[in-house]
Amino acid sequence: MNAHVHARQQAQLGFVASDQNLIVGDSANCPLTPAELARLPVDSPLVLEHFGGGLTAQVLHLCVGGVHYTLKQRRSEALVRNINGETSFLNEVQRRADFTRLKADPAWAKRLTHIVPTLYADYRLGIILSPWLPGRPLDHFNADIFRQILSTVVACEEAGLMEWDLCPGNIIEEQGQIGLFDFGYMYPFDPLVDFNSNGQSDPLFHACERFETRNFFGWLLRHSQAMDTAAQLALYRELKEVALEVYQQKLAWLQSQNASPAVLAWVLSFINRWQQALQDPDALQSLFEVENFRSQVLDIEDDLHGKSCSRFTLQRLDFVEQCIRSRFVALQEGGALFYDNAGKSQTELLTLYAQKRRLAQQYQL
Ligand SMILES: Nc1ncnc2c1ncn2[C@@H]1O[C@H](COP(=O)(O)OP(=O)(O)OP(=O)(O)O)[C@@H](O)[C@H]1O
Ligand SMILES: [Mg+2]
Repeated sequence: MNAHVHARQQAQLGFVASDQNLIVGDSANCPLTPAELARLPVDSPLVLEHFGGGLTAQVLHLCVGGVHYTLKQRRSEALVRNINGETSFLNEVQRRADFTRLKADPAWAKRLTHIVPTLYADYRLGIILSPWLPGRPLDHFNADIFRQILSTVVACEEAGLMEWDLCPGNIIEEQGQIGLFDFGYMYPFDPLVDFNSNGQSDPLFHACERFETRNFFGWLLRHSQAMDTAAQLALYRELKEVALEVYQQKLAWLQSQNASPAVLAWVLSFINRWQQALQDPDALQSLFEVENFRSQVLDIEDDLHGKSCSRFTLQRLDFVEQCIRSRFVALQEGGALFYDNAGKSQTELLTLYAQKRRLAQQYQL
């Protein structure tokens, strides 16, 4: 177990077991008393919509006196599968406290406009109240949307908060403006010393990778019938152009803050690789192939780890197996085989993914 992850989990489990509370905001912001909000049933006439799919909480869209709110209520019994899931409600209240503090500072506030404000949260009562954000889950991309997402998550990283779960259900879009509202898997870290909230052990994970893995490459796979390779590459190019710009700004900030040489070299390695890819169509095509494969591999692991697989997990497995069959050498040379996949032959990988497919079939929700 990673030491950084272990320490954070222990501290959070300690907090859960203690009698401490964490309250964010002023209860005067609530349209009902906090205790009433905690008890509000889904069949109340104040509830317009109900999102019941979350493992540790349910989300209610309320309208009280003509004002729309989002109320996240912790489940009395969590449908928990692991410690991060079990502590995700506490984690979110902690992050809401961080953002409330950051947004009170005008310099941070202007970089965090896409982060939903918190009206009130009470960990022990199990409630988080926010304004309702109109819109729909983000389902289209362009340079402006890439910029809003990446510059927001990089601002969070500079503030010492690493977001892991930029999945489609966690990004809302309304008239070209995106909003982020779910911080159950956003963890603190030291951006001047560590790569991410796992410390220095997993250089694979960073803002742009998280967006690509949890969102962008899944979206491309879902739309692969309707988009030919050239169109996919063109959109990927737009993403990398924005990512390059945002990471160059991040590098300048890291330099100004005397970040460690390891962190500077790590950020520079992405900048160099993306710059090269943007200058050379063949390099762009190879990077696309490697990163697409990486993202599908990582998301398959996420589904298997959470024992929450779908038909789409099987589609990802089809894609990965096809890549191993037809592009093994290119993937190996491009650095796409990491962790368990590193050093394996083509046959070994195909055997491994056949086993994963059997597990994915077993874990269909
Ligand atoms: N402030 C908001 N404005 C509008 N819709 C919201 C808001 N907050 C949450 N939602 C809606 O409620 C859904 C669930 O919210 P959220 O992701 O915070 O809960 P969750 O319990 O973490 O769910 P999951 O486990 O599925 O991620 C979102 O996908 C979104 O559709
Ligand atoms: Mg969510």
